[in-house]
Amino acid sequence: MRDFIENMPKAELHVHIEGTLEPELSFALAEKNNIPLPFPSPEALIAAYDFHDLPSFLKIYYAGMSVLIEEEDFYRLTWDYLEKAASQNIVYTELFFDPQGHTTRGVAFETVITGIHKAQMAAKEKLGIDSQLILCFLRDMSAESAMTHLRMAEPYLDWLVGVGLDSDELNNPPVKFKEVFSLARQWGLKLTMHCDVNQKNTQEHITQVLDDIQVDRIDHGVNALESDALCEKIKAKQLGLTVCPVSNRFVVQSLTSNEIKAMLEKGLLATINSDDPAYFRAYLNENFIALQEEGHFSKDQLLTLAGNAFKVAWLESDEKEHYLSKLNAYAQTAVA
Ligand code: HPA
Ligand code: ZN
Repeated sequence: MRDFIENMPKAELHVHIEGTLEPELSFALAEKNNIPLPFPSPEALIAAYDFHDLPSFLKIYYAGMSVLIEEEDFYRLTWDYLEKAASQNIVYTELFFDPQGHTTRGVAFETVITGIHKAQMAAKEKLGIDSQLILCFLRDMSAESAMTHLRMAEPYLDWLVGVGLDSDELNNPPVKFKEVFSLARQWGLKLTMHCDVNQKNTQEHITQVLDDIQVDRIDHGVNALESDALCEKIKAKQLGLTVCPVSNRFVVQSLTSNEIKAMLEKGLLATINSDDPAYFRAYLNENFIALQEEGHFSKDQLLTLAGNAFKVAWLESDEKEHYLSKLNAYAQTAVA
């Protein structure tokens, strides 16, 4: 099963580029940029990763960003992730980035997006991995700040495929950002939002992303399973759910394998993703492998999960067909 998973052509649709910052790179950038780190070594930094809910993770995640200063830092961050992704047979990925996590520290929007974009172009050319970029707004900041950042992105619309919403969900409902997402839609961007696992008012938030925001995808969305009506709506709209098993385990002590199976049984388009792989110490293959071990997924079920990611990717239909036929060819040779 491990070989089967590792060799399978895959797409990853829920990965925060800042969440791919490996401790070794963090130390290298800290030294280059003269930024003191409160730990003596990358190992000590990893040992301090103590996540048990969303806020405890976010605290460490935002502190980690402090070493990212220059365009070349964002380039290196993105290049390293794309190189790792290519080595895991990820052929296509949609990356989130959190500009407000940088502009609030005095790093220009242009610096961030240019470094990421140049690495995406280089990885396409040199590694053959294709990627698109999603601008995420921090939901614990104001709607005004989100709007300011959307306007900052206007000159770079060709570099973006969509907008997302992340950070602390508590008392930050989707409708807070209705106007921003509506403008993003007018500009031709796709829309997604996090509905993190086991959040307060989760049913209400999922209802809002469906009815008020009219998203094109939902990030996480596991709690939709508690409502037949929400499941029906998600199914009718054929929305993808980007589930992140290892990330969820920090909150619910399970890889949500039962929930992912239930999604497949209901015909929901669940996909598997790594979320913040450097922090959760698991890239996409490790997520698939752990999930398979916990839930004893069959090869057919794993192929369905991988296929769903290509189906709900923000690509033209001929590009989706290209990747799906690649996956199909793999299935022909690899399923005994
Ligand atoms: N949820 C909310 N905010 C985040 C996440 C997440 O999974 N990862 C990085 N920022
Ligand atoms: Zn996420």
